[in-house]
Amino acid sequence: MDYDPSIRLLTDHLALRPTTPNDIERALEIRSNHDVARNLVSATIPPDSEKMANWFKGHADEWRDGSAYRLAITLEARFIGVCDVFDIADGQGEIGYWLDRAVWGRGFGQEAATRLIRFATEEVGLTALRAGCADDNAASAAILTRLGFNRLKDVRVFSQSRQAEITQRRFHLTV
Ligand SMILES: CC(C)(COP(=O)(O)OP(=O)(O)OC[C@H]1O[C@@H](n2cnc3c(N)ncnc32)[C@H](O)[C@@H]1OP(=O)(O)O)[C@@H](O)C(=O)NCCC(=O)NCCS
Repeated sequence: MDYDPSIRLLTDHLALRPTTPNDIERALEIRSNHDVARNLVSATIPPDSEKMANWFKGHADEWRDGSAYRLAITLEARFIGVCDVFDIADGQGEIGYWLDRAVWGRGFGQEAATRLIRFATEEVGLTALRAGCADDNAASAAILTRLGFNRLKDVRVFSQSRQAEITQRRFHLTV
């Protein structure tokens, strides 16, 4: 798919668009919050600015080769987080999302994830999606359950952000 940062995927309150390197600074600010980072298994606390910059700089190529689609979540044109579908192979992919701590609890996580799923299935054409969240991440589990994901067996994974092994709930959605 063409990488076109002017694309807008709209929801009731948000617009999702391809990420750009201009988002790096705000992403670092958001990911510096402990509550946000602790629920992302591969995040470091504090975030590594060089790694974050390289991650963002690779998004356009990932988009073009179809291995991942990283979307900036924006509220009134302000970057408030990311939702993405990644590790794409054989018509399947993993989804993830994170939002600025300041906007939690307003339904934006659910809204962004719902639009992400529609994009991944209808526009990218994936037929199955995977997701995982820490067993104490009630908000994320609620989002996935409401989206119709089925719960699979828990797994133990190392959380970089917590520097400990955690139990991760695994979820699967077949379209
Ligand atoms: C997960 C995250 C995106 C949720 O964003 P949000 O905008 O606050 O979520 P919403 O307001 O859409 O709420 C989603 C659901 O979670 C529930 N919820 C929200 N916060 C909750 C909490 N602390 N405890 C229990 N349930 C909670 C809401 O009631 C809602 O469920 P419902 O629709 O059944 O009522 C946000 O908390 C975040 O960025 N967390 C850090 C990163 C992260 O955890 N990413 C996911 C990794 S798997």
